[in-house]
Amino acid sequence: ETVEWEAASYDMGGHDTYMHKEISEQPDAVDRVLRGRIDDRFNTVHLGGLNLDPREARGIRRVKILGCGTSYHAGLIGAGLIEGMARIPADAEPASEFRYRNPVVDPDTLYIAVSQSGETYDVLAAVQELKRKGARVLGVVNVVGSAIAREADGGVYVHAGPEVCVVSTKCFTNTVVAFALLAVHLGRIRDLSVTDGKRIIDGLRKLPAQIQEILDGEEDIKKLAAEFAEAKSMMFIGRVRGYPVALEASLKLKEISYIHAEAYPASELKHGPLALIEPSLPTVAIVPDDDLLEKNRAALEEIKARSGRILAVAHREQEKADHTIVVPKNEDELDPILMGIPLQLLAYHTALAMGRDIDKPRNLAKSVTVE
Ligand code: G6P
Repeated sequence: ETVEWEAASYDMGGHDTYMHKEISEQPDAVDRVLRGRIDDRFNTVHLGGLNLDPREARGIRRVKILGCGTSYHAGLIGAGLIEGMARIPADAEPASEFRYRNPVVDPDTLYIAVSQSGETYDVLAAVQELKRKGARVLGVVNVVGSAIAREADGGVYVHAGPEVCVVSTKCFTNTVVAFALLAVHLGRIRDLSVTDGKRIIDGLRKLPAQIQEILDGEEDIKKLAAEFAEAKSMMFIGRVRGYPVALEASLKLKEISYIHAEAYPASELKHGPLALIEPSLPTVAIVPDDDLLEKNRAALEEIKARSGRILAVAHREQEKADHTIVVPKNEDELDPILMGIPLQLLAYHTALAMGRDIDKPRNLAKSVTVE
């Protein structure tokens, strides 16, 4: 009986796959993670379950974010948001790597565990080890009441709703938005001005409509995918904020299409990967209109000079690229949230053209609850 009820509530709603359904749900999902949390009077964000008072928030000297797979990538973007807005040194690390290197656990560090399911063993074990050593651990989790949510001292629910497809899409986006909310919250207690708080909040409110605008361009992305389904291997590049977007896009492609994909910081191209560039290895480049635009354009030139094919994700047409997917501009800090979305669709349509089992890729599980 329980099983039947669950099956009914996980209806595909007219989509051919859960992945497509979940990609399409993102405007609503983002709306949900924002709802009830923005405070326009003080241009800040309230997060009910954080259990961190302003005095404690001011005492944090470092932030260390832990997760696996897509959640780790969301954590990398989250670290950039927190360091940028709250001016607290922050970084992210795969939970299992952290656990096995006997890390120094510092009482002034805020640890944040990220997990869609809230059940990933490597993350849970890292949280338990940290708590045993007296650290303060927050959770950024989707599944309410899950093991990591229960184990953490407090946290932020990402409210993406049930995610069924093995690979994560809407939960990734919502997790990054949850980090943006946390960054504004910590920032406004510390080093983020009223004006900047308002600027980011206004940007956050634009996200659902801008995501919808990207989703409306699906037919064009589908055409591009037909071309990429022939590639044996693909390169993804980005710089600073764009690099975790490249990492996540390359993970998505390899998980569901089984095409080999690498992600590199664009700045590292000349230190090795340029040797791979030739017409049969397409590059996807993240090229936001920000202070690094010229640097990113130089990377496109280097690839073009070696006859590499380029697909740019940018805020305007890139002449060095063979194709550009133009996405709407938001505040620089929030651009990574939007730039990943067309690449979810690219991975999806590439895998579809190859006839892959998109919702259940070979060798992978939705959540890995064992070592
Ligand atoms: C598995 C899934 C990935 C996911 C990772 C972390 O490997 O296949 O898609 O990103 O676990 O899952 P979590 O539930 O902790 O976010």
